[in-house]
Amino acid sequence: MQLIETIAGLREVLAEARRQGLKVGLVPTMGYLHEGHASLITRAKEECDVVVVSVFVNPLQFGPHEDLDRYPRDLERDAQLATKSGAAILFHPSAQEMYPSQVLTTVSVQQVTDRLCGASRPGHFDGVATVVLKLLNIVLPDRVYFGLKDYQQVRVISRMVSDLNVPVQIVPCPTIREPDGLAKSSRNVYLTAQDRQAALVLSNSLRELQKLVSAGERNAALLQSRLTEWISSEPLARIDYVEILDSEKLEPVSCETAEIVAAVAVYFGQTRLIDNAVIDAEGRPFYAADSNEIKNSSRQGNRS
Ligand code: PAJ
Repeated sequence: MQLIETIAGLREVLAEARRQGLKVGLVPTMGYLHEGHASLITRAKEECDVVVVSVFVNPLQFGPHEDLDRYPRDLERDAQLATKSGAAILFHPSAQEMYPSQVLTTVSVQQVTDRLCGASRPGHFDGVATVVLKLLNIVLPDRVYFGLKDYQQVRVISRMVSDLNVPVQIVPCPTIREPDGLAKSSRNVYLTAQDRQAALVLSNSLRELQKLVSAGERNAALLQSRLTEWISSEPLARIDYVEILDSEKLEPVSCETAEIVAAVAVYFGQTRLIDNAVIDAEGRPFYAADSNEIKNSSRQGNRS
């Protein structure tokens, strides 16, 4: 595998690959790779001839009080894991290489960024969209791979690519979890043993929610209040948000909602973890209801 640190160097190698008619896949990451990232690289390798993994901790997507400086880094281990998973090129630019002068142009995707992490982390998705568009312009991949663990990120990038006619195919990939259910994340290393155990409340609660829907519940407000209750029952969990939204629009559930996303962001100590579950209506649409209706519907049991 080749380690490339400059944009010019990467463009030269990829121009040659394209001349040979090879299909290029891109997996954008911030490094400290784990099996979640590896699954994207493996998938890219199955579908493309040349896989580029970018490792760049993008300062533009971190807020002033976030963990940019302490974000975990280990390039040597990243290189090993990327090689093992099938990457041909590890692109590791410096911040100076990516942002040589003050950034005067950014990409801002509206509406799908109004809620969830877009609301909790102002400016975050402008930073994500901007760096991803830069990477797409640098690599010019046929396909780009993203994990559904960052559900809103997939929606934001999909919208950007469609609105701006970026000629790339987005491939969303399933969330990879630890055997006990915790979604793999570079930030899991921050967790104390106690917080690590407490964090299981996220995947466990999302699984319970899925069961509730399978049992017939379609009232979005009730689903949201149950999910909030379950997560709040863990004393070490401090909720940032717990939301049930239309999975396509990332807006509150309406009569047109065929699929929901239950998305959560929760602090354990200083560490903020996110997780989500996308749940299909199975032909019996979800609906919004106010709190009185919730009380009635919980008294009556499940309604459809
Ligand atoms: P990062 O958090 O490093 O994640 C890189 C990619 O790996 C993202 O598409 C993310 O959704 C995916 N990923 C992370 N954990 C996963 C898991 N448990 N299962 C499946 N996929 C997982 O997301 C970013 O970096 C950045 O915002 C980036 C897109 C690189 C822009 O800077």
